[in-house]
Amino acid sequence: MAQKKGTCVLSGGSSDGLAKSIAGKIGARLITTEVRVFADGESKMRLGGRTAGYERAVIVQSLHPPVDTNLFRALCLISRISEDTRDVTAVIPYVGYARQDAEFLPGEIISAKVLGRMLRSAGAARIVVVDMHSERGLALLGTRSTTNVSAIPALARHFDGIRLERPIAVSPDKGGARRAERFALEMGCDLLVLEKSRDRRTGAVSIKTKKVGAVGGRDAIIIDDMISTGGSVVKAAEFLKKQGCGRIFAACTHALLADGAKSKIRRAGVSKIVCANTMPAGRGVASVDVSDEIARVLKRRRW
Ligand code: R5P
Repeated sequence: MAQKKGTCVLSGGSSDGLAKSIAGKIGARLITTEVRVFADGESKMRLGGRTAGYERAVIVQSLHPPVDTNLFRALCLISRISEDTRDVTAVIPYVGYARQDAEFLPGEIISAKVLGRMLRSAGAARIVVVDMHSERGLALLGTRSTTNVSAIPALARHFDGIRLERPIAVSPDKGGARRAERFALEMGCDLLVLEKSRDRRTGAVSIKTKKVGAVGGRDAIIIDDMISTGGSVVKAAEFLKKQGCGRIFAACTHALLADGAKSKIRRAGVSKIVCANTMPAGRGVASVDVSDEIARVLKRRRW
């Protein structure tokens, strides 16, 4: 019988750098994908190497914009590789649709649940994600073996290298309190949790907190799982400035920075944006590497 070849890492184009780095760290063969997009928008994918004979496969594909395209490509890879091995792990560093994890308004479809069904039915036996938006969304991905890796320690290490004036970690809302608390613990600094409200129909954000004590002259680091339109960070930064904070930083795992978010955040007085490399960071945004954290989970055979 032919000897099995260990692990291959398949990269679908949205996270090629991260896939390469993960493959190197777990000692796996990297197989990239050539993608051709037809005039009607369909993707034609071709694997850049043979996948037969591998004992185990890892797909690395983030679901940042174009979300549906990146999702379909992930599903194609998972489906194809599951013809060769049943030991398939989908590493989805950024999970698109993670925020639609409940029926917030009557009739809304819980897209995170649909996503979980799609990944599993395509053949993903395990899923690894990074700082999933909520525990509820994580449960909806639904495999018995879903692991949520955190970029928070890596983000905190980045700030260790910056001279800060009595820093405070700030969560823009209660939903992100645990993440910010972890960051504050890593940094050994105070924590402030703001109260945010979002209009479910328009998406407009406002900060409900009226006043906080003892932040005058202190540097603040706003921590969030993602920055999308920048609305949450902008409102939090404006509030912190009004309270007399010194420098304001924004740290997040997933820097989607859609819709001119970067300029809006800068205009709100944020001096630096730091994110993780779960998607391309774009110019002027510092990025920390989470490949070590992901590789560590993949190397651990017991989930
Ligand atoms: C919301 O609960 C999330 O944790 C983020 O705060 C939010 O998704 C960020 O989106 P935006 O940048 O559009 O305010």
